[in-house]
Amino acid sequence: FSEVHYITIEKLGNVPVTKGDFQSLPSHVQTWLAQMIQLCTPHAVHICDGSVEEAEMVTKMLVEGGQLAPLPKYENCYICRTDPRDVARVESKTFLITKDKHESVPHSRDGASCVLGLWKSSDEIKKDIDDRFPGCMRGRTLYVIPYSMGPIGSSLSKIGVEITDSAYVVLSMRVMTRVSSDIWKHLRNGEEFVRCLHSLGVPLPAAQPIVNNWPCNPEKTIIVHFPDSRKVMSFGSGYGGNSLLGKKCFALRIAGRIAYDEGWLAEHMLIMSVTNPQGEEKFIAAAFPSACGKTNLAMLTPTIPGYTVRCVGDDIAWMRFDKETGELRAINPEAGFFGVAPGTNMKTNPNAILTCLQNSIFTNVGETADGGFYWEGLEEETPAGTEITGWTGEKYKLGDKTKKSSHPNARFCCPARQCPIIHDKWENPAGVPISAIIFGGRRPEGVPLVVEAFNWAHGVFLAAQLKSESTAAAEHTAKQIMHDPFAMRPFVGYNFGKYIQHWLNFEKNPNNKLPKIFHVNWFRVDENNKFLWPGYGDNIRVLDWIIRRVNNEDIAEPSAVGLLPKKGSLNLQGLNINWDKLMALPKDYWIGDVDETLQWLDGQLGDDLPQAIREEIQKQKERLSKL
Ligand code: GDP
Ligand code: PGA
Ligand code: MN
Ligand code: MN
Repeated sequence: FSEVHYITIEKLGNVPVTKGDFQSLPSHVQTWLAQMIQLCTPHAVHICDGSVEEAEMVTKMLVEGGQLAPLPKYENCYICRTDPRDVARVESKTFLITKDKHESVPHSRDGASCVLGLWKSSDEIKKDIDDRFPGCMRGRTLYVIPYSMGPIGSSLSKIGVEITDSAYVVLSMRVMTRVSSDIWKHLRNGEEFVRCLHSLGVPLPAAQPIVNNWPCNPEKTIIVHFPDSRKVMSFGSGYGGNSLLGKKCFALRIAGRIAYDEGWLAEHMLIMSVTNPQGEEKFIAAAFPSACGKTNLAMLTPTIPGYTVRCVGDDIAWMRFDKETGELRAINPEAGFFGVAPGTNMKTNPNAILTCLQNSIFTNVGETADGGFYWEGLEEETPAGTEITGWTGEKYKLGDKTKKSSHPNARFCCPARQCPIIHDKWENPAGVPISAIIFGGRRPEGVPLVVEAFNWAHGVFLAAQLKSESTAAAEHTAKQIMHDPFAMRPFVGYNFGKYIQHWLNFEKNPNNKLPKIFHVNWFRVDENNKFLWPGYGDNIRVLDWIIRRVNNEDIAEPSAVGLLPKKGSLNLQGLNINWDKLMALPKDYWIGDVDETLQWLDGQLGDDLPQAIREEIQKQKERLSKL
């Protein structure tokens, strides 16, 4: 019997600490924790140490409580089904709080409701918080998760502490970030950390029935950011992007604001390397909106011989120009992949499948009768007639086309170190040097396979005009083409006009080695709605062209919208491609597009839209008029 320690909290008296030593924590952490315990009134406190034993204990508890079930086909893998009302990020309930509204959101023109971040005043949010957090952990254990985004101790890394009443969050944070009691040592000298508070919003006894053993409070869900004081408060949702606060909340929204203050970039980007047949390696960062192909590109299996791809990260990049060398150096602040499951298979992304066969958590996928995972896209790898239990609990035989096994935003959560092609420098504290930056989205119409920016400012414009078809990663249901500048619409932590200007400013320092910027589109369709480009492993052909352009090969020619591959310069060997359709620039489409883009950017950003972007739009218009 180990002795139970208590924390004495004003008004609450003695709260038992079932794990860890509160007294040994840095004093500024103790002060904050005591306040949060007083606010949330949990029945016990567990200070996480990140150990395997801890994970086993928490897993066992979740399995006994019916929230997780083992997938016996693999080693240490678990399946989890959420309440069907809690399956994706909720942009409409995600807020930025600053004293001045326009630190958070741009001066949108009258009538244009801003979609580049939602601001609330401190007074308004105080009401929302007071209505939710007091007593929100009654009857539950409060977990304290110390974690690092980026390798522990690297000068590019940042520390966070998440308080949560969700054991699923504890397990997922262990995979997605570096959880360790070593963090306390780094905080002991008073170093600051991002304060993250998360509650499922279901104190016990629960006021409403709990669905699928997945407590959540969809009516009251809010995700609140305080960029000035580096704080996050999330209530009511257990879903990844809303509850694993190291990811979108910290590594993009809060870090984005820190990056603005400090002169670097926190971006929604994968990081990968491509080595060509000559043995020359280049690192690439690429931004696509959620569920538009980052994880797949980051670990692609090349279909043309002689190329090697290695993965550094699949969702978030922190990047800064090195003061001495001028290189843009990037780290992946995460430690795991939280990937879209449907569509992932041994043909499209074998590396992802191989990464998640141990130590992984699957959320809202189906299960085969022999204890394996199943989702749409695994048809050919699963024997016909296999009995599937779908994410809604319904059983059916594989082949029944009326049934769906998985939610379209079902996810696997697996440690990056297990990826067969993880780069040996993926945890390099100094990061990797980026030679090219790619932007892209789902554009069924009008947009060619690949475009290279004329220069940095034009590249920033290509990023600012990014649009994509909506996906299941957030709450937008209808399939519609939405603006998603820089693939950051849901993740920006401060005034988007300032964000664009921040990007433009990197050109002002002549020491900066600016990467070339590209725009790609794997998703153009023909008149029968069939993809014109095979995608996946064949995307190496586009990466090959991009790398040759980084080496200034004479294989590009100007068009109205940027530099396009000269005919025959992209390796299409073995493919049956309608190149002209894939690359066409329909004049009417583009004229409509540039007008709409100006109207949208001007409406959203008003006078915060940088002049350089207005000039790029004007130049594009002039080029188009000559088509
Ligand atoms: P992420 O959320 O940006 O990381 O996107 P993923 O890589 O997880 O991909 C999201 C969805 O797009 C999955 O269903 C993929 O199968 C699909 N996808 C990814 N890359 C391609 C591609 O090159 N072509 C096509 N047609 N689909 C793709
Ligand atoms: P994704 O990550 O970009 O891989 O979809 C999760 C998200 O953005 O919600
Ligand atoms: Mn993402
Ligand atoms: Mn992904």
